[in-house]
Amino acid sequence: MSDSPQAPTSATPPTPPIEWHPVGSAADWKDDSGKRVQIGARRIGIYKHAGGWYALKDVCPHAGVPLAQGPVFEGTVMCVGHGWRFSLTSGEWVGGSPGYKVATYPVRLRDDGVVEVQV
Ligand code: FES
Repeated sequence: MSDSPQAPTSATPPTPPIEWHPVGSAADWKDDSGKRVQIGARRIGIYKHAGGWYALKDVCPHAGVPLAQGPVFEGTVMCVGHGWRFSLTSGEWVGGSPGYKVATYPVRLRDDGVVEVQV
């Protein structure tokens, strides 16, 4: 038994490892469309557009409407709440005030046609 003091513990919980998560078959997406997936507590919109795949946090920073419900065009998704558009590549509010953006995530298409997002 030791009377020495214990080392202080960090108040920050451990960060879960970043991993690739399968979210569906590529055939589940139409061109120029988004679909919400849930990974743990995260709601993420996965988009197929102009031959590429994109992933954005599926919560509009204006008033919380799910972005994946909106139309996808010109490299953006438009929120059905009030029409704000967000870049699929950067998450930035296109044409809006700097600083309004949504998180983006890496996406990949496996050789077997499964779409994966890295979270
Ligand atoms: S909730 Fe998205 S623009 Fe208002």
